[in-house]
Amino acid sequence: MTVATDLGDVDIEGVDFAFEDRPDIHEVLEGLRELKSHAVVPFAGVKAVLLLTNDLVAAAFKDEEVFPASAIYPMTTGPVLGKTLQCMAGDEHRKNRALVSPSFQRKRVAEFIEPLLQPLAHELIDRFADRGSVDLVAEFTTRYPVLLISRLMGLPEQDEATIHRWAHDLFYFPFDPEAAMRASQDFSDFATPIIADRRSNPGDDLISVLVTENQEGETLTDDEVLSFLRLLFPAGADTTMLALGNTLSALLTHPDQMELLRSDLAEHAIWAVWEGLRWEPPVGLLPRACPEAVSWNGIDIPALTPMVFSINAANRDPDVYPDPHDFDITRRKQAMLSFGRGPHSCAGNWLAIAELETALTALLQRLPGLRLQDGAEADAKVTSQVGVALRGPNALSVEWDV
Ligand code: HEM
Repeated sequence: MTVATDLGDVDIEGVDFAFEDRPDIHEVLEGLRELKSHAVVPFAGVKAVLLLTNDLVAAAFKDEEVFPASAIYPMTTGPVLGKTLQCMAGDEHRKNRALVSPSFQRKRVAEFIEPLLQPLAHELIDRFADRGSVDLVAEFTTRYPVLLISRLMGLPEQDEATIHRWAHDLFYFPFDPEAAMRASQDFSDFATPIIADRRSNPGDDLISVLVTENQEGETLTDDEVLSFLRLLFPAGADTTMLALGNTLSALLTHPDQMELLRSDLAEHAIWAVWEGLRWEPPVGLLPRACPEAVSWNGIDIPALTPMVFSINAANRDPDVYPDPHDFDITRRKQAMLSFGRGPHSCAGNWLAIAELETALTALLQRLPGLRLQDGAEADAKVTSQVGVALRGPNALSVEWDV
């Protein structure tokens, strides 16, 4: 078999898919997809293969042989988060994943909604409901998912402000690696005695489940538990924060869809969540790597080529979603690819969906006539966050009838 040593010419100039925000990213992706199902693009000064269709992105996620997660995560998140599930492969990944997954299964998640999710959403809304206006990013979307993870772990409520700061510093790792490393260490020092305590006195919190869960005689070590807990801040909290921001941004900039949602929250809220995840997935352009030279789905890929799985292009693939640029909460389609696919697909997708539906419902019930303030449209637009992979709004300055 002949193997490629060069990708040839790039299909687009003037945009670097590792660094640059493009406000018109959906048009750029659509223009490339009209030419072919993948593109060769500039990426951190080298060339990468960008996958653009629903079929190719789904197939690539499933193909751990060719695009193993373990070929990229040890370099990108490893230094700050340690050896997480995303850095693992094969049996080690299967064992760790089997031990952490039960807490996030759909049935188990349904049990959190009343005791945990709803009270937390209302607790945060109580802090501003009588004010008549707020920035929902600053006071709701950035707080709710971190507090939820912290309460799921059963961490002391008096430490929540510190935990929020650690989560923030971990998120901004590419801008301030020192602060992120410090946050990672401080969190580990804080959580280690708690893990020891839960081993001897387990309760019904997530840490207790993680230290007592047993698969064929094997339990997680302290290091494995710590890596998983650290991973939950970027993987579980930041993603949900951005997803909630994106869905709210879509609704606030499409008043007809907001009106429809408000007309029957019980019917439409879950579909507004799925449509928000499709329209602007928080993980839009996911970097991976191709360690060995391969001919894959007709694409000749040289060894060590960076790959970009464009979930945001796949979610607007007209072969799967008619009128893909329309934000339409009556679509009734679950854009599951927003959570990846295959062995490393999101372990917390049902929790994320429950969090999003609960938050959206609570906000609309408590804040009648919720709308953007005059002049707030520009900041409410979804844009790149901490590099191009993640997308969300910078601010959602809203008002309502009081
Ligand atoms: C809307 C919110 C969320 C989105 C869009 C999202 C998206 C994703 C995606 C795309 C992946 C695959 C990454 C890859 O293949 O490289 C992933 C993995 C993961 N997610 Fe999520 N996620 C969300 C919420 C959550 C929540 C709430 C949790 C848990 C509390 C969670 C835990 C994880 C874990 C542990 C992995 C790694 C799985 C593995 O490597 O086996 N995520 N997520």
